Amino acid sequence: MSAAGQRWQTKLGVVLAVAGSAVGLGNFLRFPGLAAKYGGGIFLIPYFTAILLIGIPICWAEWGLGRRGGRHGFNAAPGIFRVATGWRHGHFLGVLALLVPLVVYMYYVYIEAWCMAYAWYYLTGQMSLGTDPVAYASFFEELVGTGGNGAVTSHLSPILVLLGLSICLNLFLIYRGINHGIERFCTVAMPVLIVCALLVLLRVLTLGTPDPDLPEQNVLNGLGFMWNPKLEEGQSLLGALANPDMWLQATGQVFFSISIGFGIIISYSSYLAPDDDVVLSGLTSTATNEFCEICLGGLITIPAAFLFLGPAPIEKVAGSTFGVGFYTLPLVFEHMPLGAAFGFLWFFLLFLAAVTSSISMLQPVLAFIEESLGLNRARATAALGVISTLGTAIVVHFSRDLVALDAMDFWIGQIGIFLLATTVVLVFAWVLGADEGIREVRRGALLELPPGFRFVIRYVSPTYLILIFLLFLSQNARGYLDQLGAQHEAAIAVAFVAAVAVLLAVGVGWAFRGQPAVSRAEDEAR
Ligand code: ALA
Repeated sequence: MSAAGQRWQTKLGVVLAVAGSAVGLGNFLRFPGLAAKYGGGIFLIPYFTAILLIGIPICWAEWGLGRRGGRHGFNAAPGIFRVATGWRHGHFLGVLALLVPLVVYMYYVYIEAWCMAYAWYYLTGQMSLGTDPVAYASFFEELVGTGGNGAVTSHLSPILVLLGLSICLNLFLIYRGINHGIERFCTVAMPVLIVCALLVLLRVLTLGTPDPDLPEQNVLNGLGFMWNPKLEEGQSLLGALANPDMWLQATGQVFFSISIGFGIIISYSSYLAPDDDVVLSGLTSTATNEFCEICLGGLITIPAAFLFLGPAPIEKVAGSTFGVGFYTLPLVFEHMPLGAAFGFLWFFLLFLAAVTSSISMLQPVLAFIEESLGLNRARATAALGVISTLGTAIVVHFSRDLVALDAMDFWIGQIGIFLLATTVVLVFAWVLGADEGIREVRRGALLELPPGFRFVIRYVSPTYLILIFLLFLSQNARGYLDQLGAQHEAAIAVAFVAAVAVLLAVGVGWAFRGQPAVSRAEDEAR
């Protein structure tokens, strides 16, 4: 059975699959932590600027490029870039679009297993650790192994068992294929996770003033703490906005959250029919993601923590995805009436959100192994399982302070995503050409593209991206380069990533050896 010929069955199915890829840990953990750190409502200004200037435009570009590649029978990025560029060696641009999802998956699936573990411990009544915050930090450290390398691999620790289950579930779903695996799972998991989130939200918004002795810790103040723009003494709004780090973080969050610059949408949209609408589908999946991020993630996590713990503990963990999610929230559930039930719902929904994202990271690479290396689905899944599990093993074994995870996230989950997003924009707007790209995106579209789209995708998005990228490097690269010399876990993780990159490049080169470029005339004939 090969990937070729697979198609999404329904419009709703593809929108839920792409939204499933987008809605993940980034929405419920990373976003609230960042918003709390960067002045609440103020953070929304760079955040929405990034959505409008790069998020939605790049999303449409990826949908268009992917569907175009799909018309030529390609479902993996190398073939899709070859079609888009018309270059004989254009397929090499796709190497990054395989590397990014594969490497992000390697550590993402580990975090997915933590969510499964917390859900399981809540379900079985083992998460009642009292009201001392230190107990929650110790619990996390022991579960995940942050205390030292080999802490969870030296014996059959519970997290290894749950990680094994997560990995098997991911591989099973992609093995089942686009319709029977990914589409079916997302069609059920997305509504379920949204219902779970709405239940938790309802609980948080109806808590009133949980402790009458602390009347200022009420729901309205909790929402205000999260969303009122926070200005320091004497600071103007413009002064608060002149913080380059906030713009960097907001842009990175938009990429990570919408799953753009990941190589995912390009691959998913290649399974569309030639005239399926991509403008409305792209917008719908982005809107679903934003609903989950702002209305669910943004209204639950920090306000709930504020109600029971007050502002001080939140300020301590703000900006830390894991601090908010795995230390602070369990402590909040401990204080909340029926906290164990809501704790279960919360971590179960996080687990579902993580799975709908992690399968989308595997699919692009599976498509490449199938279509380009000619392996059948079972063998391709097994090969992908081996490579990805090796990477995950490095993350899990070198668990001291999560240094290996952090290094992979920086070099691929941040730098790789910026580079890939820039490649997509340049290929779409300058190599394929903005006019041809727009013609491609408008094919079969029910909605018109906004009038400024051509200008934005051609000039604004690339300039914005390159500026933000240079700023990002100037602020962070030195520290992470020093880390490579100082922490062997980081060096091992990066060396492994480099080896995978070389392997992928060789595979891509081998798969397209001697093939002529795809001409524009050939493309128009389809
Ligand atoms: N878009 C996915 C998330 O937000 C990767 O977690």
